Amino acid sequence: MDVLTHIKEEHDEFRELMKKIESSKSAKKKELFRELYAKLHGHHEAEEKVVFPMVLEEVKAEDKEVVREMIEEHSLGQYQFKVLEKTDVEDETWDAKFMVLKEVLEHHMEEEEKEFITLAKKVIPKEKREELLEKFESVLEKKKKEKEKELK
Ligand SMILES: [Fe+2]
Ligand SMILES: [Fe+2]
Repeated sequence: MDVLTHIKEEHDEFRELMKKIESSKSAKKKELFRELYAKLHGHHEAEEKVVFPMVLEEVKAEDKEVVREMIEEHSLGQYQFKVLEKTDVEDETWDAKFMVLKEVLEHHMEEEEKEFITLAKKVIPKEKREELLEKFESVLEKKKKEKEKELK
């Protein structure tokens, strides 16, 4: 499968998981939140290590900004994940903090699908995109496991 198609499919998984978190409570909510945290950490790391560098190298100077913006949005999400992890899930501000994370991530995924993927498709040949999937998944798994350990 094309790594870019795979990225889109994972985004849909994250959207579902965020909905589940919103409708859960207490320990279950925390558990699902940590699942999202670890998976998204792996997803972002895999994008940054496997897909973004190639696109950055191939696109014209003015299009590099799209990729840089993706990376900055990952940092923004990461910041809010840390804040939520430090906050008790029963705290009255948890849901508001999560809503902000959700908005950041939804905006990011939409922009990544509309702008970044469109750009990446133009500069990475189809065979290469298929070849990248394995590497993407191995980085994702490794980084996800590291985060899971850290969150225990
Ligand atoms: Fe993504
Ligand atoms: Fe991303």
